[in-house]
Order: sequence, then C-alpha cells, then structure tokens
Amino acid sequence: MRIGGIDVPCGAGHPLVPRVNPAYLFSARFDDVLEDIVENRRVILIGHTGAGKTSLIEQVAARSHHGVL
Ligand SMILES: Nc1ncnc2c1ncn2[C@@H]1O[C@H](COP(=O)(O)OP(=O)(O)OP(=O)(O)O)[C@@H](O)[C@H]1O
Ligand SMILES: [Mg+2]
Repeated sequence: MRIGGIDVPCGAGHPLVPRVNPAYLFSARFDDVLEDIVENRRVILIGHTGAGKTSLIEQVAARSHHGVL
C-alpha cells in the first residue's frame, strides 16, 4: 500500500484496525516517520496536543490493515 511516498506492507487485518478517516491529509513531511516504521525502527512522536501524533499512526494502520493498541 502506497502511503505518501512510502510503500507500507499490509497486515492481514485485525480486530483493532482503526477506521479510515477519508478526510485525513497525508503530508510529505510524514514520509520520514513512515519510512522508520516500515524499517522497524523505534519511533517517538513529540508535539503539542492535537498536532496529529495519534491520528498519523491510526490512519497509516487503517490503510495498511494493522491493528493499533
Ligand atoms: N493530517 C491530518 N489530516 C486531517 N485531520 C488531522 C490531521 N492531523 C490531525 N488531524 C485531526 O486533528 C485532531 C487531533 O489529532 P490527534 O488526536 O492525532 O492529536 P495528538 O497529537 O495525538 O494529540 P494528543 O497529544 O492530545 O494525544 C484529530 O481529530 C485528527 O483527526
Ligand atoms: Mg494522541
């Protein structure tokens, strides 16, 4: 699954796969984070409340069929 500029491997589906938010906007700035996730590096997202940390992870997972806990 292509998300932004990154190929993200798809999961097999899971009860905890989030719902797709069709209004969610992927920015090119997210590509570095996605690349780190795909390469299985540990990632910490830092930002003000409402900056979009949780929704980035959820919307990547929603589109690539991975569960989120
Ligand atoms: N790129 C985006 N496109 C559309 N909506 C977005 C985007 N980024 C964030 N939002 C929306 O902004 C709101 C706040 O985002 P989110 O909950 O991800 O922030 P957060 O950084 O996890 O905040 P907190 O630190 O409080 O947990 C959500 O409703 C989310 O859907
Ligand atoms: Mg959050």
